[in-house]
Amino acid sequence: MIVCKTKEELKTRISLWKKEGKTIGFAPTMGYLHSGHISLIEQSKAKADKTIVSLFVNPTQFNDPEDYLKYPLDMEGDLKKCKEAGVDLVFIPTKEVVYPDGTPDLIMKQPALQKNLCGRTRPNHFEGVMLVVSKLFHLLNPDFAFFGLKDYQQFRIIEEMVHILDFPIQVIGVPTLRERDGLAMSSRNVRLTEKERENASLIPRMFTLAGKLLVGGEKNPKVFHEILADFLLSSPEVKIDYIESVDPHTLQEKLTLDGELVLAIAVFLGKTRLIDNQRFSKI
Ligand code: PAF
Repeated sequence: MIVCKTKEELKTRISLWKKEGKTIGFAPTMGYLHSGHISLIEQSKAKADKTIVSLFVNPTQFNDPEDYLKYPLDMEGDLKKCKEAGVDLVFIPTKEVVYPDGTPDLIMKQPALQKNLCGRTRPNHFEGVMLVVSKLFHLLNPDFAFFGLKDYQQFRIIEEMVHILDFPIQVIGVPTLRERDGLAMSSRNVRLTEKERENASLIPRMFTLAGKLLVGGEKNPKVFHEILADFLLSSPEVKIDYIESVDPHTLQEKLTLDGELVLAIAVFLGKTRLIDNQRFSKI
C-alpha cells in the first residue's frame, strides 16, 4: 500500500495509473475508520482497478472549533485497516498541504439543497465539504467516488456539485452500516459515555416507530415529528437538533407524508452530535 503525504507524490502515482488505463475508486474520509468506511472501500474495490482513501480531518467544514479539535484520530489504526482492506493508496495530507494559503477565499453554496437539515443548523459546514471534496477530486481524478448514505444531505450535495461542475466522476451512495442495536456506525460513537450509548439506541427505535406511523396512515408532518420527538425525549439526556421529513431529491420539506421521503434527524447526546436518516416510500 502506497502512502502519500504530498500532492506531488499523489499526482505522479495517479498519472502512472491513468497511463496504464486503470480506473480509480475514491473513498474520502476523515479517518477513525469503522466498518462503514470499510464498506466504501469494498464497493470501490469491486468497481475500480485501484482504490484510494484519504484521511484528512477538514478544518473548513467544522462550524464548532471544539468539535474539530476533539475529532477522534487514529492514524496508525487507520493505515492498518486500509492495508487489511486492500487499499492501493492512502492520502494523508496536513492542512498546510491541502490549504497552503490558509482558508481559501472561495465559497461554494447550493442554497436549495442546504436550506434544511444540517444546512440550517451547521452554518458553513457544506461549504467546507464542497471545497475539500472538489479539491480532492481535482487532485485524484477518480472515476468513482463513494459516500456513506448516513450523511444523506452530503451525498445529495456532492452528487449535485459533480453534475453542475461537470466532474467526470460517478458518485455512489453506500448504505449505512449499523451496530447490533441498529445505531448507525459513526466515528463519533466512540465519544459517547456508556449511558449515552445506551440512550443512542432510541434513534433506531424511533425509525421503527416512524415506519409504523406511516403504515398506520399518518400524513401530517407536524404530528408525525411531534410523536417522534416525544419518543426521543423520553430520555432527558437527548437533545434534538432537528427531525425533518424531506423529498429525497430536492431535500425540500414534505408538506404531506406521501410518496418518497427521507426522515432525517440530528440529536445531541451530551456533547456528541449524531445524525441518521431513513428513506420511506408511502403509497
Ligand atoms: O463524510 C466525511 O467524512 C467528510 O465530510 C468528507 C466527505 C471526507 C469531507 O471531508
